[in-house]
Amino acid sequence: MDRTWRHNPAFFALFVLLLCAFASGHAVAGSSKNVDYTEMSAEELAEYLIFKANGFDTDMKTQEGGTVRARLQQDKLQKTCSALNGGQIDSATAQKVTEMARENTAYPDGGIELGDWEKGQTIAENAYGYRVGHKIDDHEARQTGGLCINCHQMEEDKKIRSGTLGPSLIGYGETRGLTEQTKQYTYEVIYNPHQFFPCTKMPRFGANDFLSQDKIAHVMAYLLDPDSPVNQ
Ligand code: HEC
Repeated sequence: MDRTWRHNPAFFALFVLLLCAFASGHAVAGSSKNVDYTEMSAEELAEYLIFKANGFDTDMKTQEGGTVRARLQQDKLQKTCSALNGGQIDSATAQKVTEMARENTAYPDGGIELGDWEKGQTIAENAYGYRVGHKIDDHEARQTGGLCINCHQMEEDKKIRSGTLGPSLIGYGETRGLTEQTKQYTYEVIYNPHQFFPCTKMPRFGANDFLSQDKIAHVMAYLLDPDSPVNQ
């Protein structure tokens, strides 16, 4: 997926496993003079293999710009949420995260408008992201997406291939109504959901630059336009 894989423990575990498999071939065998891997916890070993043993080229460029090393560094909000270690969030942390998320939210110059629901549908189902490594995607030929359907049911007849990590959004616009408040709330949730759901698993599509303002407008239309299949 995109940067959001960092939020997902399963993806992270898989990534670390792959790294270990990859790194063990040369890094572990080649540079094990002073390092006792058996003394390391799983986290320490992962840190070691990724950041110190050169088992994986962390200076490699990422498609969105920057390096793999930079992408692996958590920002302040992620660090705060990670410190909970998967446990229940307390009210002080929730307030801190909510504030961080609010500070991090920008609005379109012309106000929050709906785009084209058909384009939004494509974006909601599109898993094309920002890869790293030698076999990168051609974003000239194909746009990046949001893959909302991985976590949300959005259309009745696509339920079978939709994820359920997030709440169902079927009938979202019909139930909420097309008011200014709904538009603002929906925009803000897509842009940075932590302002309503601190330490949520939902990605920060706007704050992380994964969806442009235009794309967010299209996804909003998909959710809110009375003609969209979400509301049929
Ligand atoms: C990795 C999973 C994941 C992805 C991908 C995801 N979401 Fe979410 N979303 C959630 C979760 C989980 C919640 C509920 C918030 C919580 O409790 O953490 C949520 C909540 C929401 C809500 C608020 C629902 C309500 O009842 O008020 C909206 C709207 C929403 N998501 C839209 C989207 C859109 C649009 C996309 C794609 C651009 C998307 N989500 C992608 C996990 C995800």
